[in-house]
Amino acid sequence: MSCLLLASSQGVSSSVQLVKGLSWSFFKKTCSEVESIIKEHLKKVFQDDISQLQGSYVSISTTALFSKQDAPPNPNLRRTTLKIINDLRNLMEKKCGRRVVSFADIATIAARDSIFLSGGPKYEVPLGRRDKLAFASVNETTENLPSPTQNASQILAALTKKSFDTIDVVALSRAHSIGLGHCGAFTKRLYPTPNSTMDKNFTCDLKGVCPATNSTNTIILDIRSPNRFDNKYFVNLVNRQSLFTSDQDLYEDPTTWDIVTSFAKDLELFFQKFVLTMTKMGQLAVLTMTKGEIRAHYSVRNS
Ligand code: HEM
Repeated sequence: MSCLLLASSQGVSSSVQLVKGLSWSFFKKTCSEVESIIKEHLKKVFQDDISQLQGSYVSISTTALFSKQDAPPNPNLRRTTLKIINDLRNLMEKKCGRRVVSFADIATIAARDSIFLSGGPKYEVPLGRRDKLAFASVNETTENLPSPTQNASQILAALTKKSFDTIDVVALSRAHSIGLGHCGAFTKRLYPTPNSTMDKNFTCDLKGVCPATNSTNTIILDIRSPNRFDNKYFVNLVNRQSLFTSDQDLYEDPTTWDIVTSFAKDLELFFQKFVLTMTKMGQLAVLTMTKGEIRAHYSVRNS
């Protein structure tokens, strides 16, 4: 398993096939500083409030995958994410000119830098995305959103439709090492009878935070390392200390348990695969060239 994963993850920028219109040097002539401006801004945000940025990084990437911030099942996505993105857009406008850098590219660079600033891998991202003309409806978004009560085969079925493979799904799920979960997303695993795939001490701790099925409290998703981008999420799964069925079942299911185990043992291996998966996700259904627009405001289509 490890050798297979390693072989497929060498030299991302030279081996990945790019969607037409995306490029590794897209802003070379129009705003060569775009990436350094974003990184410097995020470093400041990061110093001010680490949790703000960490809660944001995957919110940003997830927006690309599921458009989570509009969807009722996920009430916890941070408003600060949108503020950070808007601040970055204002900076872009000041330094690069009006409507030069899309929100989609800003979000892609910001997600990558936030991962790095949290201790994760450093990698290049291809740029040149344009923003969508239409917004997804709540219905469309909800339809796309997997549920935390789904098991691994259901999650795999949902995500392989979006051209992810099994290893991608396990690598992406690691996002649940960052941020918070509401009791409502996992109390079915506690009551009336605690789920057998949950560590007993962990069960007691969770019952303390969520004393009833309708508790509205929150708890960190990763008990081992909520503040670092590492592979402890997988160690939690191996120790049966994760909140959602959609996460824990990745260790229980024979299709995915060996990938979880490999990632739990080998941080570098996980980083390499994660970079490939993020590069794939960053090219999913993107608009380039003459499609879409460079939006002036995050939530308003240009008139
Ligand atoms: C595999 C299917 C997935 C399911 C079923 C799922 C479900 C959930 C649920 C139920 C929550 C907690 C919401 C709450 O209680 O407030 C959550 C939080 C979160 N999810 Fe996912 N998710 C999935 C995949 C992903 C992916 C692929 C990413 C990113 C690449 C991601 C990033 C996050 C982040 C960062 C949070 C914490 C948000 C915060 O604290 O503000 N999720 N997810």
